[in-house]
Amino acid sequence: MFSRRHSRNATLAFRLHMTGVSLGNSRDQLNKKLQERIKSMRGIKMGIAAAALAFAATSAQAADITIKFSHVVAENTPKGKMANKFAELVHERLGDRVEVEVYPNSQLFGDNKVLEAMALGDVQLAAPSLSKFGKYTSKLQVFDLPFLFKDMKAVEKFQQGPKGQELLHSMEDKGFIGLGYLHNGMKQLSASQPLIEPADADGLKFRIMSSDVLAAQFEAVQAVPLKKPFSEVFTLLQTKAIDGQENTWSNIYSKKFFEVQDHITESNHGVLDYLVVTSADFWNGLPDDVRPVVKKSLDEAIAYGNKISMEKAEADKKAIAESGRTTIHELTDEQRAAWVESMKPVWKQFEGDIGKDLIDAAVASNG
Ligand code: LMR
Repeated sequence: MFSRRHSRNATLAFRLHMTGVSLGNSRDQLNKKLQERIKSMRGIKMGIAAAALAFAATSAQAADITIKFSHVVAENTPKGKMANKFAELVHERLGDRVEVEVYPNSQLFGDNKVLEAMALGDVQLAAPSLSKFGKYTSKLQVFDLPFLFKDMKAVEKFQQGPKGQELLHSMEDKGFIGLGYLHNGMKQLSASQPLIEPADADGLKFRIMSSDVLAAQFEAVQAVPLKKPFSEVFTLLQTKAIDGQENTWSNIYSKKFFEVQDHITESNHGVLDYLVVTSADFWNGLPDDVRPVVKKSLDEAIAYGNKISMEKAEADKKAIAESGRTTIHELTDEQRAAWVESMKPVWKQFEGDIGKDLIDAAVASNG
């Protein structure tokens, strides 16, 4: 309730600010001010300005609910495209009743702040990487275990299976509802030097997302993990404050990490997917005739994002290879097996936190 009023008033105030009218206490006051303002205008300018004001007044009155969707990646990524598609579908179906405002590139909140902002009602929808929920549940850490999923088909099978669906509800006691999974893809390792054997990572500093499992994964190869927000990665790499990072092809491409990393190893050692999440207060406060339409639009936007994620990974990998700015290394089966052997003990280390049942179900999805 608070979040809806808050968002709506903020949008209204912004629109009126743009038209030179300050927000009064009541709609009557507001209409009176608008009328006075319209009356005081003359000539052609008056016509245009009056039309703009009338539009502002109409849409301010009509848009009951604003959904702020905050994310950290570029628009030309599976998540960026999914968010824009969602806004489009909601607009088509709910017109001015619900307005979706998408904020990409950490413009509104960085990934370490967005869930706190959501709890306060300052943002209504987000899709953080599954690695960024450690403060709220240890269960989602299953997705970070290195070399757990063979490929994205296995990830999809696990997510859509009973255990994956159960995980959508794993933070309801903290006031968050998982509305669905969105794919990005498998992660690759990049560094200022070639990473062919695990020993190559020894002593190198790697930026990681805020996950203890990912920290353990790099510690397993004697590297130094540093938890840093996504928005800082390019500069950290460029200034050589860190040596490497792990990410998907679409993030490495859209954020230009490949321009400041001489080597990328096609390791496919883990998955980077998202949980589309909302706050229970906001979601349960939506009118009963609006919630299903928003959910249907979200499901369709997620399906679209998932469909393009594989194509984007391929296309972005190709673009990186063709740029000539970095060298992509493929691993032989034997080289890959050495990385698996070094990193796999992390599974046992986190079995107690995550639950053996979840790990077993994830392994079974490879079959
Ligand atoms: C990262 O921090 O590397 C990713 O979570 C960014 C993203 O949202 O894809």
